Amino acid sequence: MRSFQELSVFFEQEVNKRFFPEEPKNLYDAAQYIIGIGGKRVRPILVLMGNEIFGEVGQDAFKVAASIELFHNFSLIHDDIMDKAPLRRGAETVHIRYGESTALLAGDVMLVRAYEEIASINASSLASIFTLFNRTAKEVCEGQQMDMDFENRAEVLQNEYLQMITLKTSVLLAASLQMGAILGGADDTDQAHLYEFGKNLGIAFQLQDDYLDAFGDPDKFGKQVGGDIIANKKTFLLIYALENANPQMRNELIELLGNNEADKVSRVLQIFRACGVDQWANAQKEHFFNLAMNHLHALRVDEAKKKPLIDLAGFLIQRES
Ligand code: IPE
Ligand code: IPE
Ligand code: MG
Ligand code: MG
Ligand code: MG
Repeated sequence: MRSFQELSVFFEQEVNKRFFPEEPKNLYDAAQYIIGIGGKRVRPILVLMGNEIFGEVGQDAFKVAASIELFHNFSLIHDDIMDKAPLRRGAETVHIRYGESTALLAGDVMLVRAYEEIASINASSLASIFTLFNRTAKEVCEGQQMDMDFENRAEVLQNEYLQMITLKTSVLLAASLQMGAILGGADDTDQAHLYEFGKNLGIAFQLQDDYLDAFGDPDKFGKQVGGDIIANKKTFLLIYALENANPQMRNELIELLGNNEADKVSRVLQIFRACGVDQWANAQKEHFFNLAMNHLHALRVDEAKKKPLIDLAGFLIQRES
């Protein structure tokens, strides 16, 4: 079983091919642009790892991996419009660079390209992968809608937040691993364990994303730090602070959410710090990391084969970008 870094080299060759024709230039350049500005490629590598833990990585795994990365990038283009985000991967977002209408279309065409990749795999796994892909894609939309609905709600409970991030983020990591496992010939029990590993890891991954959005180093993060605070995103940091701040800080926080003054981000961060959200964030990440590990341990393959997944999981919850 190869490491994340080793598999990344293989996948990068695959993703470096041009997925789109030349014309209309604006449309396809926009689609190619987001792929070209990088990213960690976590989900496609999870497809390859999910496959390699059970068997040899074949051409279909690369197609599914490319499909998943295309879908992920499509969701990022639309997400950046919804979140009014100026920066992604240390570069201008697609809608800032190409305009909102082209960004919408570029996202659409990437989704169609994602389906073309899936449709070209061997018939023996096509039905199960296609079904899982569609279920997951719908769940991502549901999670994204919940995320936006929560912006306008005064109170969101921790378990509502967990449901939202499970849908918008975790299920795609989980499905990537399961698709790999399907291609590797894993049985239903092992597929389910790998899916649950990915789901819990995905929750920890989004917790870290929300943490970095507030506390990340702007030079490393690649996105606008404080973007979630400006948009009144109901992240676990904000929910925890609203639940645990003293009455005076709680009132200040509620007042800050009601406006968008220049010092909003720094004042909200101050309250986050005063409430000890750091320790809470670490404890939460560890909790979901451990849940993920339980499922990985239950997987009926050689322990040595699990190491690259354990390493990747550790990296993902400590990452700085
Ligand atoms: C960003 O995902 C969107 C989330 C679900 C948090 P990544 O952090 O994997 O983004 P890239 O692909 O590496 O840029
Ligand atoms: C995005 O969550 C999840 C999807 C794109 C489906 P975020 O809005 O937190 O992702 P970033 O922080 O913009 O990457
Ligand atoms: Mg966003
Ligand atoms: Mg978002
Ligand atoms: Mg985020």
